[in-house]
Amino acid sequence: MSTFKLVAAAGLFAAAMLGAASVGAQDTPAGDAAHGRVVFLKEACFTCHGRSGQGGAYNGPAPILAQTALPLEGFRAQIRNPVNDMPAYSDAVLSDKDIADIYAFVKSLPGARSPKDVPILNN
Ligand code: HEC
Repeated sequence: MSTFKLVAAAGLFAAAMLGAASVGAQDTPAGDAAHGRVVFLKEACFTCHGRSGQGGAYNGPAPILAQTALPLEGFRAQIRNPVNDMPAYSDAVLSDKDIADIYAFVKSLPGARSPKDVPILNN
């Protein structure tokens, strides 16, 4: 193979890898679920939403966060400007990165199981 062909092939390969990396970045928000778990516990989100993001009751219901259907934007908007009873978290307390990490964490939680998947309920 000529040097030119080798360089061209290497360039194409690098371009393909860059393309793959940027597609991946759009699909999954850059969040560190392990750090998200630490922040979720440290900032006491769990006291209302449960350690497994299963939701709970405070003055009213605190929604299930496991497997949230909210986009990251909406998730962050609720944390910065809660619609009702939830306390607000400014970026002095919780950075956008922390929120992205919490988002990755709650997305990684298994959430509720279907009764069909619990053997004792199917006897
Ligand atoms: C004092 C209880 C409490 C704490 C602490 C709390 N929340 Fe909430 N959260 C709520 C309640 C109640 C709601 C329902 C909406 C409202 O009252 O604003 C809610 C709603 C939400 C929602 C919207 C979910 C949906 O599907 O509509 C998100 C996201 C959320 N909380 C994330 C968090 C995160 C992340 C933390 C920690 C940084 C946290 N919350 C801390 C009580 C709490």
